[in-house]
Amino acid sequence: MLFFPFLKPCPCMLLFLFFTLFYTSTEAYDPLDPFGNITIKWDIREWTPDGYVAVVTMNNFQQYRHISAPGWSVGWTWAKKEVIWQVMGGQTTEQGDCSKFKGNTPHCCKKDPTVVDLLPGTPYNQQIANCCRGGVLSSWAQDPTNAVSAFQVSVGSAGTTNKTVKLPLNFTLKAPGPGYTCGPAKTVTPTKFTTPDKRRVTQALMTWNVTCTYSQFLAQKTPTCCVSLSSFYNDTIVPCPTCSCGCQGNSAQSGSCVDPRAPRLASVVKGAGNKSITPLVQCTSHMCPIRVHWHIKVNYKEYWRVKVTVTNFNYRMNYSDWNLVVQHPNFDNLTQLFSFNYKSINPYGSINDTAMLWGVKFYNDFLNQAGPNGNVQSELLFRKDDSFMFDKGWGFPRRIYFNGDNCVMPPPDAYPWLPNAGSKLEVSLVSYLTLMIASLVVLVLHAYC
Ligand SMILES: *[C@@H]1O[C@H](CO)[C@@H](O)[C@H](O)[C@H]1NC(C)=O
Ligand SMILES: *[C@@H]1O[C@H](CO)[C@@H](O)[C@H](O)[C@H]1NC(C)=O
Ligand SMILES: *[C@@H]1O[C@H](CO)[C@@H](O)[C@H](O)[C@H]1NC(C)=O
Ligand SMILES: *[C@@H]1O[C@H](CO)[C@@H](O)[C@H](O)[C@H]1NC(C)=O
Ligand SMILES: *[C@@H]1O[C@H](CO)[C@@H](O)[C@H](O)[C@H]1NC(C)=O
Ligand SMILES: *[C@@H]1O[C@H](CO)[C@@H](O)[C@H](O)[C@H]1NC(C)=O
Ligand SMILES: *[C@@H]1O[C@H](CO)[C@@H](O)[C@H](O)[C@H]1NC(C)=O
Ligand SMILES: *[C@@H]1O[C@H](CO)[C@@H](O)[C@H](O)[C@H]1NC(C)=O
Ligand SMILES: *[C@@H]1O[C@H](CO)[C@@H](O)[C@H](O)[C@H]1NC(C)=O
Repeated sequence: MLFFPFLKPCPCMLLFLFFTLFYTSTEAYDPLDPFGNITIKWDIREWTPDGYVAVVTMNNFQQYRHISAPGWSVGWTWAKKEVIWQVMGGQTTEQGDCSKFKGNTPHCCKKDPTVVDLLPGTPYNQQIANCCRGGVLSSWAQDPTNAVSAFQVSVGSAGTTNKTVKLPLNFTLKAPGPGYTCGPAKTVTPTKFTTPDKRRVTQALMTWNVTCTYSQFLAQKTPTCCVSLSSFYNDTIVPCPTCSCGCQGNSAQSGSCVDPRAPRLASVVKGAGNKSITPLVQCTSHMCPIRVHWHIKVNYKEYWRVKVTVTNFNYRMNYSDWNLVVQHPNFDNLTQLFSFNYKSINPYGSINDTAMLWGVKFYNDFLNQAGPNGNVQSELLFRKDDSFMFDKGWGFPRRIYFNGDNCVMPPPDAYPWLPNAGSKLEVSLVSYLTLMIASLVVLVLHAYC
C-alpha cells in the first residue's frame, strides 16, 4: 500500500523502496509461518491467604522454529509488591533482596524475576507435568507433544481475588538470545482441565495469556546457514556465496575460525567448549555453521531425483532435532523421500510448495558437530509436474531455512546452466524477474493478510 503513490513519479525510487521494504518486512515477519507464536498462559489454580498458585504454560505454536539448549528463560515485571514463595518445575535465576522477610524466606523477591526450566533428572517431588527439559521446546510441526513447557509459581503479596490481582507487565522471552517480543497479558476464558480418567472437568480460577512472536531482524543474527548447488547436467558446483555468514580473518567474533588441519585442533575446540552459544566454525569461504547442498542427481522419464546434504561446520554445536524448510514448486508431487521425515507446510491453503524436513529419531535426528560425522543426507524423488524443466535453474530450491533461519542462497545468475541454454543475460534476467514477482506476491500477501 505504502509505495503505490511513488509508482508514477519515479520507478527507481519504487524499486529502492520496494527492496528496503521487502527486506525489512521479511525479517520481521515470516511468510512461511505467518501465524507462528509462543503463548505464555497463566492459570490460577488456587487463591492462597496472601496470593495465588498459578501454573504457567508455554506453548510453541511455531511450525518449525524450536528452542534448543541452553533453553528458554521467561521474565516479567510485577505490578505490585509480589514475591514468589516457591517455584515447582523451574527456578528463578536470582533471589533478589529478601532482607525484609524473617523466618520464612521467599524463593524470589525481585521486581523483575526471570524463570528458567530445571534440568532433566530433577527429583520427582520438584517436578510438574511438562517441566524439566532444560528449557528445550520443540516446534509444533515436528513434535507437538514436546512443544509445551510448564512451571508452577506460588505468589505472595498479590491480590487474592480476580478483582484485586494485578496482571504482571512487560513479559520477555529469551531463547536464550533476543528475537522474541511479547504482547501484554490479557485475561481470557478460564482454561478447562480434564482429569486423566476423563471423568471430571475442573477449571482455572482465572487465566491470562501472553503472545510472543519471533523476528530474525530483532534477533540481529548474522545468517547461520547457506546453500550450495550442483547438477548432473553441469560440472560446476555453485558454492555458498563468499562471506555468507562472516568473513575470514575479519575482526573478533565473525572472523574467528578453526583450520581443520591445525595440529592443535582438539585443544582449540576443547578450550572453547564453554557453555557458549557463539559458533566456532571451521574455516571456509562462507564461514557458515551450516551448509545445505542441493544436487540434482538423476533425470528419469517421469521423475527426477535430488540429493540433499546438510553439513555442520560448527565445532561447538550438535544440532539435535534439526529441521529444514524447503520451498520448491514441485513439492506438491513429492513421491518418495528417503531417511528424513516430511510434512507439508502451506500457510496459504492452496499453495503446496513448502516442505519441512527433519531427521528420523535415533537415526539422523542428531547432526553431529563439525568433523567426519557432521552431516546428514537424504534423497527426494519428485514426479515431474506441468511446469517441470531443468532450464533456468527451475530444479533448484527457492528458499531454504535451517532451524528457522533463512539460509543465504547463491545469486540466481550463478545457478548451473543446462548446456546450450540461452545467453547468460537472458537466464539471469528471467530469474530476477521471477524473483521480483515472487517477492511482490509475498509483499502483497503480507499487506493484506
Ligand atoms: C498464535 O498461534 C496460533 C496457532 O497458530 C493461532 O491460532 C493464533 O491466532 C496466534 N495468535 C496470535 C496473536 O497471532
Ligand atoms: C471475577 O469472577 C467473577 C465470578 O466468577 C466474574 O463474574 C468476573 O467477570 C470476574 N472478573 C474478572 C475481572 O475476571
Ligand atoms: C514496561 O516497558 C515499558 C516500555 O519499555 C516501560 O515504559 C515501562 O516503564 C515498563 N514497566 C515496568 C513496570 O517496568
Ligand atoms: C491462550 O493460550 C492457549 C494456549 O496456551 C490457547 O489454547 C488459547 O486459545 C489462548 N486463548 C486466547 C483467547 O488466545
Ligand atoms: C572457558 O572457561 C574457563 C574457566 O571456566 C575460562 O578460564 C576460559 O577463559 C573460557 N574460555 C573461553 C574461550 O571463553
Ligand atoms: C556432540 O556429541 C558428541 C557425541 O555424542 C560428543 O562427543 C561431543 O562432545 C558433543 N559436542 C558438543 C559440542 O556438545
Ligand atoms: C502436498 O503434496 C504432497 C505430495 O504430493 C502430499 O503428500 C501432501 O499431502 C500435500 N499437502 C497438502 C496440504 O495438500
Ligand atoms: C501434481 O500434484 C498436483 C496437486 O497435488 C496434481 O493436481 C497433479 O495432477 C500432479 N501432477 C502429476 C504429474 O502427478
Ligand atoms: C555450467 O553452469 C555455469 C554457470 O554456473 C556456466 O558458466 C557453464 O558454462 C555451464 N557449463 C556448461 C557445460 O554449460
